[in-house]
Amino acid sequence: MPIRFKINDVAVEAKPGEGLLDVARRNGFSIPSLCHLESVPAIGACRICLVEVRRGRRSKLTTSCNYEVLDGIEVSTDSPEIRRHRAMNLELLLARAPSSEAIRKLAAQYGVSQPRFGPIKYNPLPNCILCELCVRACTELGHHALTTVGRGDRKRIGLPFNKPADTCVGCGACASVCPTHCIPMTDTLTKRAIWGQKHDFVRCSECGAPVITKKHRDHAIATKGLPEDYYDVCQSCKQIATSQRFAAIVW
Ligand code: SF4
Ligand code: SF4
Ligand code: FES
Repeated sequence: MPIRFKINDVAVEAKPGEGLLDVARRNGFSIPSLCHLESVPAIGACRICLVEVRRGRRSKLTTSCNYEVLDGIEVSTDSPEIRRHRAMNLELLLARAPSSEAIRKLAAQYGVSQPRFGPIKYNPLPNCILCELCVRACTELGHHALTTVGRGDRKRIGLPFNKPADTCVGCGACASVCPTHCIPMTDTLTKRAIWGQKHDFVRCSECGAPVITKKHRDHAIATKGLPEDYYDVCQSCKQIATSQRFAAIVW
C-alpha cells in the first residue's frame, strides 16, 4: 500500500519506509541539503534540509532526509520559520567551514555572510563540517576505512587508530561526496594520494589515462564478479570501440 500525503498542498505518493527528502525531490520540490545522498543512510547531521511536518493538530520542524514518510502528513518545505532555522544552522556551519565555497554560497542565499561565532579552534581537517557523509559512503561501499575520532569539540574524521587503513582502496568516494571538498586527494597519471597512502592506478591500455586504483580494481573484481580485464580500458575508449563496432556493422 502506498503512503499518501501532501507536500506544499500537492498530493504525493511514496513507498513505506522512504525518506521525505527523497520523495520531495522525486516530485520536483527543492529542499537544500548538504549531508544526504540517496544511496547512503541518512543521519540528519547538517540540519539544512529542515521542513515543517503537520500531523493532525501537531506540527514540528524536522530534518527531511531522515524522516520516514507517514500517511496523511502535511509538509511545508519553505516558510519564514524554516528559513530562520536554516539560516542559523548555516551560521554554525560557516563558523566550521569559513572558506568552503559551497557553504558560503548557500549561506548567502539565506542572508548569512559572516557568522557571529567562531572560528572553530580545533578542526584538523579545515572546512570539515562533521557531517560524516564520507564515513557513511565508505562504509556503504564496504571499505570501512574511515571513522569519527574523539568526542565533543575534539571530534574529527579520521582513520581507525590514526594509521593508514588496509581497507582503504583509494576509490576517492569520500572526497567526491564531501560537500565542502575538504578531503585532500591528489591524482597524477600514475598514482592517487589520499589519507596518507599512495595508490597505483590501472592505466587504460588504449589511451594511457588512469582508470581506477589497482587496489580498488582488485576489490571490485572480487566482490562484483567482473571479468579480470574489465578495467583494462577506460570508459571513453570502450565507448569509441563500441561505436566503431556499430559503424562496422551498419557499413
Ligand atoms: S578512498 Fe579510502 S577512505 Fe575514501 S571512500 Fe575510498 S576506501 Fe574509503
Ligand atoms: S570530510 Fe567532508 S564529508 Fe566527511 S565529515 Fe567532513 S565535511 Fe562531511
Ligand atoms: S541533508 Fe538532512 S540533515 Fe543534512
